[in-house]
Amino acid sequence: MNNFEFCNPVKVVFGKGTIARLSALIPEGLKVLVIYGGGSIKKNGIYEQVADALNGFQWLEFSGIEANPHYETCMQAVELVRKEKIHFLLAVGGGSVIDATKFIAAAVPFEGDPWDILAKGSPVKEAMPLGAVLTLPATGSEMNERAVISRVSEGKKLNFATLFVFPKFAVMDPEATYSLPARQVANGVVDSFIHVIEQYLTYPVNANVQDAFAESLMKIIVEEGRKVLSDPLNYDIRANLMWAATNALNGWIGQGTPQDWSSHRIGYALTAQFGLDHAETLAVILPGVMEYMRREKREKILQLGVAVFNITEGNPEERMNKVIETVETFFRDMGLKTRLNEYEIKESDLDKLVEPIAQMGWVLGEYGTIDATVAREILRLRL
Ligand code: NZQ
Ligand code: ZN
Repeated sequence: MNNFEFCNPVKVVFGKGTIARLSALIPEGLKVLVIYGGGSIKKNGIYEQVADALNGFQWLEFSGIEANPHYETCMQAVELVRKEKIHFLLAVGGGSVIDATKFIAAAVPFEGDPWDILAKGSPVKEAMPLGAVLTLPATGSEMNERAVISRVSEGKKLNFATLFVFPKFAVMDPEATYSLPARQVANGVVDSFIHVIEQYLTYPVNANVQDAFAESLMKIIVEEGRKVLSDPLNYDIRANLMWAATNALNGWIGQGTPQDWSSHRIGYALTAQFGLDHAETLAVILPGVMEYMRREKREKILQLGVAVFNITEGNPEERMNKVIETVETFFRDMGLKTRLNEYEIKESDLDKLVEPIAQMGWVLGEYGTIDATVAREILRLRL
């Protein structure tokens, strides 16, 4: 196991009716800005629950955060926060709303052009306090220190991470997820599964605790994920998926282990240039990463096969083929496409898709061997 230092300061408030706890979680007397997306919270009653809980607080709202949040929209919120002298940001939504809120929190006190936080990795020295009410289990953003923001005019999607944007708390009521459209439920299942994979499917370092935890999470995500679409109002399925998704990316399973993240980074351009949902990008790319990196990932692919999918028959090459095929089948069973041609993306699109990787100078994967040229090869496998 590699050395690590770990602290996750996010207070989790989990379960039925927990949105009402907001009144006790936000310090009294603070002026709050409630930030949300396109309005799903107005249709499913979450907005009313938040409003009731904030009774007694002075609060304003900012809506219209897009899925894959836009930099420009975040900057409008930054202006409002500065003008209205807001003290506390409350994100109510999925990963996009929480990520946008983190960026706004970092951008408000930032000296200089906040775009540099994303484009140049400029260090963030402070951020406003924020809390999250999660409505879509997928990204783990409610309990981590990272965010992903897009600048559509430049065809760019970029991430940043800083300890200053850990939410102060994450309120997670599984009932808030009942209203999710099937597509978003499936996206969440696939995204959280791949978060575990990105931290697990590398090479062994005898991190037995992290491996066992990761394998359990994947088993639960696969089992409950297969059930949720046909039993959407089952509280226990929703609760297990919600908590699994949080644990998949709250830092815990990745401590002391090598990490990959190439599927994620290669996927950014598929969203920025072709509008695929985040999870849709991953379902296409991951089988290609597994195939292209099969020699480097051999031991962990075999271990994944045994631990999660009970694949024990055949020689190692056959077993690896079976694991890759089973993972792809799982994504398809969840209703996601797994080939670029299903999105009408062709070989002639690949150069532009890997351009941001070259521009940013990214070398991805657990060995840092996936540059733009290799990423193109991986994408070619998925045409
Ligand atoms: O905008 P509203 O109206 O709220 O609708 C949203 C949105 O259209 C809807 N939705 C959310 N909760 C709902 C609901 N609809 C009905 N009922 C509910 N309870 O779902 C749609 C998608 O929401 P979004 O927040 O975009 O989805 P998700 O949580 O998958 O977040 C995706 C974003 O997170 C980033 C992705 O890149 C993408 O931008 N990620 C963030 C990470 C992080 N911070 O650690 C890691 C991830 O790997 C990921 O990159
Ligand atoms: Zn993800």
